[in-house]
Amino acid sequence: MRMRRAIYPGSFDPITNGHLDIIERSSKLFDEVIIGVLVNSQKTPLFNFDERIEIIRAVVADWPQVRVDTFNGLLVNYAQSQQADCIVRGIRAVSDYEYELQMALMNRRLAPNIETVFMMAAEDYSYLSSRLVKEVFMLNGSITGLVPSLVEEKMKEKLQAKKNT
Ligand code: PNS
Repeated sequence: MRMRRAIYPGSFDPITNGHLDIIERSSKLFDEVIIGVLVNSQKTPLFNFDERIEIIRAVVADWPQVRVDTFNGLLVNYAQSQQADCIVRGIRAVSDYEYELQMALMNRRLAPNIETVFMMAAEDYSYLSSRLVKEVFMLNGSITGLVPSLVEEKMKEKLQAKKNT
């Protein structure tokens, strides 16, 4: 029987509990979920590429059907190279919809055989984004419960290293 494989793409700077919720739920729908970390994002990241991969691998280590990989260039080309049927994206609020719709339609135009599957974010994380996590943390707010504890630890190390320079 053919394996159903999905790509869950993103920048993951850093991975949040909202991402993990989508990964866990999508891993129940597909035989394999590949977390595709975009290499050449134009954003200046908090965590460099290797750090992000290391963190993500550690936090999904207990889920055998989840794999972490990197990609460059067009997402649909990457999905096809992995023989993936689907792209999974999380939607938090109506404000996500327009951007996600544009991407899904463009991706469908480029690769009609790849379906985008949207999953509604868990209510508890519906306001959560990597950007807000970074902002709150940098302003000394608590991010406990919003990101895996490893992410919080690594963010504290980053802040400390910044203070020491
Ligand atoms: O976590 P993000 O930053 O919202 O993820 C955005 C991502 C990586 C899914 C998107 O930027 C992407 O797919 N980039 C790859 C380049 C590409 O295929 N662009 C055309 C999309 S329609």
